[in-house]
Amino acid sequence: MSQSSTITPNEKSDIRKEVAQHVSNWKGEEGNLIMILHAIQNQHGYVPREVAMELSREVGVTLGRIYEVLTFYHYFKLVPPGKHNISVCLGTACYLKGAPALINEVKSQLKVEEGGTTEDHEFHLDVVRCIGCCGMAPAMTVDGRTCGKVKPEDISKIIAETKSA
Ligand code: FES
Repeated sequence: MSQSSTITPNEKSDIRKEVAQHVSNWKGEEGNLIMILHAIQNQHGYVPREVAMELSREVGVTLGRIYEVLTFYHYFKLVPPGKHNISVCLGTACYLKGAPALINEVKSQLKVEEGGTTEDHEFHLDVVRCIGCCGMAPAMTVDGRTCGKVKPEDISKIIAETKSA
């Protein structure tokens, strides 16, 4: 994502038009701030800071309030998603069966933090609560595919297979 100091006047004007369009689409609707944020995320895959700033200006809601909403709902992403998305479950069953070691292994192999995306934008890592496969604990999903009874030594193979898929 480009930083606000480096966005061009054209990009700025595009952001302004985009936000004005979303605001007009949801004018007068209840819960419109959330609906607008959904529309922005659907468009970009996350909510870029520049767009959130423009939305704050356009609707007269502080950027702080917008960030409160964005961080309250786990659905919203503040960083660009990766080409591949890994979610490791840290629900109770997975926790008890060793999920923390899986998370550490993914973090160390990809050099990424929880909720972060690798520098090359190939992988995004999320830690989630119960994905409904407790019988397969510890479990994770990779691009929506569930992997169960995963061991830390399986992680490099899973990453390699995902890269080459
Ligand atoms: S706790 Fe991990 S799938 Fe339920």
